[in-house]
Amino acid sequence: MMTETLAADADFSDRDAAARAILTGNDRGGYTVPTAGLYPYQWNWDSAFASLGFAQFDLERAWREIETLFSGQWESGQVPHILFHKPDPGYFPGPDVWGCTGPIPSSGITQPPVALSFATRLLAADPALGAARFAALYPKMRKWAEWFLRWRRDEKGAIFVVHPWESGRDNAPDWDNAMDAIDPQGVGYYERRDTQHVDASMRPTKYDYDRYIWLVQRGKALEWDDARLAQDNPFRVADPTMHFILLRALRDLYAAGEAQGLDTAGMAEQLAELEAGAQALWNPGMGFYDSYNCANGIWSNALTNASFLCWFAGLDAPEMAQHLSRVLDAAPYGVPSLAPFDPRFDARRYWRGPTWGMMNMMIGEGASERGVALGEEVRKRTREVIARYGFVEYFDPMTGAAAGGKAFTWTAAVWLAWAGKEG
Ligand code: DGY
Repeated sequence: MMTETLAADADFSDRDAAARAILTGNDRGGYTVPTAGLYPYQWNWDSAFASLGFAQFDLERAWREIETLFSGQWESGQVPHILFHKPDPGYFPGPDVWGCTGPIPSSGITQPPVALSFATRLLAADPALGAARFAALYPKMRKWAEWFLRWRRDEKGAIFVVHPWESGRDNAPDWDNAMDAIDPQGVGYYERRDTQHVDASMRPTKYDYDRYIWLVQRGKALEWDDARLAQDNPFRVADPTMHFILLRALRDLYAAGEAQGLDTAGMAEQLAELEAGAQALWNPGMGFYDSYNCANGIWSNALTNASFLCWFAGLDAPEMAQHLSRVLDAAPYGVPSLAPFDPRFDARRYWRGPTWGMMNMMIGEGASERGVALGEEVRKRTREVIARYGFVEYFDPMTGAAAGGKAFTWTAAVWLAWAGKEG
């Protein structure tokens, strides 16, 4: 447990101003970069959090963020994980490596559709301002949700990812089994740029990167065609991040669609199917939500921060509360991306240990909504760690030490929208 706490009446107004300055500093005109240098483009779920952050002080700008994201939507309905609006040599792999042909140069994979949920929050914040903008986005949002159901759902009803970057939890242990099956022969020479911005000990290994790039080359060779990818991609892992965030997105979209008198045909059935599909992610041996390799059914046996998104998805999962209690006892500074008692835990290496503000927000909010008292504890710890160590990408969950990129958009947004607010 933490030994010191910030005074209950601590004045956070300077941090609010700093958080707003990060958002406006990372604004590139209609879209926001996660952080300058390391991530110089528009990333899908980062952008959704940016929108929520802007919504705390500039709702017009918040809508624009999501509209810009949807300007890159593919004909299929997919919304890419990166939109390369302007060339930037500081990032690899850039648009030429992906070789995509959507309306805006982009990557060929997607990311968790948290933007759908957050669009409904912008609407709720000012229905008069938002109704027309929401209605214009609504068919596009439904199309993206339906694309997931068609192209990213396995026979057990779980949503899977075709690349670790699609989940957003790049080097989580969830992918280890499927990554081991890839022989990245022929990937060729490439130069990483991420380790020129951030210490290599906080980033994925070369072993991981060879396979990330190999998978991109494979997708490009298949022309990012969904049907061919479904046949020929060796990486398919059922993922609680994607499943739970999509479930929440569909739930929010359905409720807002009904309230706005928009077409909700089929949504109740889609929701029921996704709710039933969540059962496929329950690892009975470990007694928690987990990921599995669709190729062989092998579980990751990993208690990750994605396991705790069950409440955000609107599920009642009383068994998960004791797991949350165990990881919070083991890690004082927020929900770790991997339980510290797992031998694969690595406190500073990206998604193999660090705590992330935006995951904490979805876990904490979801838990509180479902009546799990620890949700508020997650918020308080997230507030402490950000207040003490800054608006960085992620934190060592054992010491709170800052890690990854600095002046980070989603950490600032999470401060403004959730962590920095009094409960
Ligand atoms: C990266 O480049 O590290 C990203 O996570 C890919 O989305």
